[in-house]
Amino acid sequence: MATNVHYQAVIFLFCCVMLSAGLQVEVKSLKYCGPPDKTLKYKVSPWPVITDADSVNFTVTFTPARDIFSLSLFGNVTKDGKTIIERNKEVNCSYVPHHCNFSADETYTLTKTGLHIYNFSPIFKGKFEATLILFNQEQFSVFCVQSVVVVS
Ligand SMILES: *[C@@H]1O[C@H](CO)[C@@H](O)[C@H](O)[C@H]1NC(C)=O
Ligand SMILES: *[C@@H]1O[C@H](CO)[C@@H](O)[C@H](O)[C@H]1NC(C)=O
Ligand SMILES: *[C@@H]1O[C@H](CO)[C@@H](O)[C@H](O)[C@H]1NC(C)=O
Ligand SMILES: *[C@@H]1O[C@H](CO)[C@@H](O)[C@H](O)[C@H]1NC(C)=O
Repeated sequence: MATNVHYQAVIFLFCCVMLSAGLQVEVKSLKYCGPPDKTLKYKVSPWPVITDADSVNFTVTFTPARDIFSLSLFGNVTKDGKTIIERNKEVNCSYVPHHCNFSADETYTLTKTGLHIYNFSPIFKGKFEATLILFNQEQFSVFCVQSVVVVS
């Protein structure tokens, strides 16, 4: 539900797709496209192949260039070249207060363990490309990632 807005954002990072039992996701590329950040580091395990049985751990270190008091996200996903999802959404910060309160020029590390890929139907197989951009209260793009994954 709405409590999951942030995690949906994180999941966009990995796989951006709805996954059914028995499928696996292979991350072909994951590219940071946000403002320059020399401190940026991330680690995802397992990697780059994630199955729906996996418990996924995720760590990201970053230094925002601007203060962040509120977040909105833009995301799009294409399947085999055709847009299937395009969303603009305000993140409800009262659900995720720790994810809406960052000071510019401070370095933060966020860790999340035990994430599971969404297990939705119907089955999707194919090549997916996704973009996720997070904006702060000034509509400044504070974080952007693009990924290409193959679901088989
Ligand atoms: C994820 O983190 C947990 C707790 O730190 C650890 O027990 C587990 O082995 C990790 N799993 C992977 C796939 O790295
Ligand atoms: C998704 O959004 C990004 C950023 O605005 C844009 O560069 C890209 O072309 C979009 N992709 C599609 C398929 O609309
Ligand atoms: C945000 O969540 C709170 C409860 O945690 C709720 O009262 C409020 O209406 C929500 N705001 C929006 C814009 O959905
Ligand atoms: C934001 O973070 C600062 C420093 O960590 C803390 O002092 C402040 O209470 C936090 N504000 C909210 C609304 O959580």
